[in-house]
Amino acid sequence: MRFLRSLLLCSGLIAAASSRVLKSRQSTTVSTWVTAEEPLARAALFRNIGSKGEFAKNVDAGAVIASPSTSSPDYFYQWTRDSSMVFKVLLNSYINGNSSLNTLLREFATESDKLQRTSNPSGGYQGAGIGEPKFLVNGTPFTGSWGRPQNDGPAIRATVLIKFANMLLDAGETSYVTSLLYDSLYPSNSVIKNDLEYVANYWQANGFDLWEEVAGQHFFNYMVQQRALVEGAELATRLGDTGAATWYTTQATAIKAALPNFWSSSKGYLLSTLNTGRDGLDCGTLLGALHGNGARGFGIYPASSDEVLVTLQKLVDVMNPLYPINAQSGAPGIAIGRYSSDVYDGVGTSTAHPWFICTFTVAEVLYTAINQFAARGSIIVSSRSLSFYQKFYSSATATTYAAGSTAYANIVTGMKNYADTFIATGQAHAATNGSLSEQFGRSDGLQKGARDLTWSYASFLTTKWARDGATAY
Ligand code: NOJ
Ligand code: NOJ
Repeated sequence: MRFLRSLLLCSGLIAAASSRVLKSRQSTTVSTWVTAEEPLARAALFRNIGSKGEFAKNVDAGAVIASPSTSSPDYFYQWTRDSSMVFKVLLNSYINGNSSLNTLLREFATESDKLQRTSNPSGGYQGAGIGEPKFLVNGTPFTGSWGRPQNDGPAIRATVLIKFANMLLDAGETSYVTSLLYDSLYPSNSVIKNDLEYVANYWQANGFDLWEEVAGQHFFNYMVQQRALVEGAELATRLGDTGAATWYTTQATAIKAALPNFWSSSKGYLLSTLNTGRDGLDCGTLLGALHGNGARGFGIYPASSDEVLVTLQKLVDVMNPLYPINAQSGAPGIAIGRYSSDVYDGVGTSTAHPWFICTFTVAEVLYTAINQFAARGSIIVSSRSLSFYQKFYSSATATTYAAGSTAYANIVTGMKNYADTFIATGQAHAATNGSLSEQFGRSDGLQKGARDLTWSYASFLTTKWARDGATAY
């Protein structure tokens, strides 16, 4: 009894303390906070890149540590997915004028080549081994049991390196590109072509999802694979590898034709995995809409599509009642986790928490949708998306609203304010020095799991850029 009373007292104190924190943080507007956080996130991201990063000194050049945390949890490894997400951000900064990143991007290409050639538990070079998800920081294989293979990483890596290769070709650096990046040989000795061959040959095989837990066919994977193959076919054409271009295009077309299988008409949202035992609502689906389309779009499930926006809202609706911090007075918005039945607490399995990546990703999808409306000059409301848009403009009907109309302006303002509440939620749980871990406590809001998660910083940066109107990657 006394124990219970002190427990209640104690949790009351925690609640009071964290709502004070929430209030003081809220005095900084989202705009002010994202501006201050950008250089901090950039610096934090660089600390995790080998070999010059402060936390990655004895790490291969061009390797990205997922986090400096070496125990509880041990994230001192390089994951193809995380590294590629991080280098996507660096490539974007390079495009925007930071020429010193050229060396770093080449180091990433060299390290990728080394990892591909390393026989590992998934298999060997020029074959199944390309699907190995995780390596030691010196490039040697991780041999413990793991959810392998994971076939999203090679696709995301290819997307990053294809864009880099095109820039180098524009600059006349053909021999570097054709020796290391894309050689038109089969079997290939080059990084991009090995990734593309892997994706083209293995996309139909079961692989683990981006959360490394379930084997099957995943929306996120299909989206990033389709994009890699379309862009890969264009690079192959540019370099005269016409047979490969045809093969990649055929496979991309097949993936595109299979993507609608993820739409569940009975549930009214996109499933993250086919034939899943879960509810299928997953932050990975939103990541797929972003990373499978980028700035350009491939005509299927962009952020602004009805299917993605209604899935986003359903995910928010299941996350809202799940975490006590969402009901806390002064909470600036709704914290989002990976999926509702998640039990990974960042160290082991108990109850899962919201993630910075997922909370920011909801905002990023909303901002990206707004940017896509602006590029198109209209918002198309259909019966499927009507209830989504009515949240922001109650008199919306299923019609097309042109830019400049009152309805368009109301929807855009409402969506932007809504997106900002997700940023504000991340803001409330970020450290004052800008640090972002993997998760933040469902009840106490405190950072949990791997500290300084490199992908959390990458996710913040692309979200911030989308808020600024850029279609960043
Ligand atoms: C570690 C994985 O990286 C994570 O995604 C997973 O949820 C946990 N193991 C629990 O299986
Ligand atoms: C666990 C996450 O589920 C997975 O997506 C990530 O690759 C690893 N942690 C490393 O950050």
